[in-house]
Amino acid sequence: MSLILVVDSDASFCRRVRAAAEGADSVRVEEVRTLADASVLMGLREPQVLLIGPSVSADEALDFSEGMSTERPSVAIVMVAAEVTTDVLRRAMRLGVHDVIPADKPWSEIVDALLGVLAGTADQRREEKPTAEETGVAGRVVTVFSTKGGVGKSVIACNVAAALARMGSNVVLVDLDLQFGDAGIMLDLKPERTIFDAVQNYDRLDAEMLRGYLVPHSSGLRVLLAPVHPEDADAITVGRIGTILRMLRDIADIVVVDTAATFDEVVLAAIDASDAIYAVATMDVASIKNTRVSLQKLKQLGYDEGRTRLVMNRADSKVWLDAGEVEHSIDAELVAKVPSDRLVPRSVNRGVPVVIDSPRSAVARSLVDLAKKISMSEGEVTHSVA
Ligand SMILES: Nc1ncnc2c1ncn2[C@@H]1O[C@H](COP(=O)(O)OP(=O)(O)OP(=O)(O)O)[C@@H](O)[C@H]1O
Ligand SMILES: [Mg+2]
Repeated sequence: MSLILVVDSDASFCRRVRAAAEGADSVRVEEVRTLADASVLMGLREPQVLLIGPSVSADEALDFSEGMSTERPSVAIVMVAAEVTTDVLRRAMRLGVHDVIPADKPWSEIVDALLGVLAGTADQRREEKPTAEETGVAGRVVTVFSTKGGVGKSVIACNVAAALARMGSNVVLVDLDLQFGDAGIMLDLKPERTIFDAVQNYDRLDAEMLRGYLVPHSSGLRVLLAPVHPEDADAITVGRIGTILRMLRDIADIVVVDTAATFDEVVLAAIDASDAIYAVATMDVASIKNTRVSLQKLKQLGYDEGRTRLVMNRADSKVWLDAGEVEHSIDAELVAKVPSDRLVPRSVNRGVPVVIDSPRSAVARSLVDLAKKISMSEGEVTHSVA
């Protein structure tokens, strides 16, 4: 049984939430009129979701969330706010608020978002697992790859990593696009610590110290960010990347690596250290040709060994290319088709992954499906042979 606690001075808002949410399986709703009452009740019950209604000002809601994020980090907070400004969104995301929904959205969207958060918390409780360190089993490394720019590598890496974290996996995302990495922007993280700092202290570096260079995201994901200054990328040599990825296997169950659109030694170092490579292509001839050629090159260099799978991004059914033909032409198993959706650029601009920003959308679902495949199917690679 999941419990949603609703806070709003308007009883009719609470009633509408109750009517909508209690239609779902095993959900109970309790309501209070003030944040002070919510605080008392949260000490007695353990709600999975705290829904703060539009009668509470955004400032008050955020101050309260700040306290909750340290006192009760397991409670997912959702705000329905009368006015949603960029400032409110940024602060909310930094505090780990799960969702901020404008009050003027259609009621069905508000309910969908609420149930999406609730489903996420249920998944998390069901799937919480011990860390790689606790089990003594090394984590796996997966690299998102394409030598073509703008195909969606970073969107896919950030979303898959955030989705895996929300499912309860212990995940580290590494931004190996060392000169122009944008994982920090996509996840709205301040680059207070980056891979450059880890490399600066390379001689003393161990797993414990490396952990300190990871920047936490509200989803539970931790990120090793790219250097702030492009010129610092030079200090991050191939050997050091290999060592860092090996150490991260002791820290995380799954290490997701985002890469630059090149075929250089940094990308090869990531591929070398990876259990699986997710090649991203879009539905156009140039991208498909590029993917085919670069995967052939990986094979020639001896890097493949059946570890490569294919992700089609912006895979619109309206486009004339057939997914089967594409799979055949590239000679890699197609594991996901991610649709094109303007929710993606919107989520990039907001600094919130679309799997969190719009969890019920088709694009978010396809990314969550991909995350599930990544978490389940490693080590069982069935490389298709044309
Ligand atoms: N499925 C999608 N639907 C709509 N837009 C998308 C989708 N995937 C990616 N985009 C858009 O394409 C842009 C480029 O994506 P992204 O930055 O992930 O590509 P990339 O392969 O990492 O590029 P680079 O090689 O330059 O790092 C993003 O800003 C995003 O808005
Ligand atoms: Mg990128």
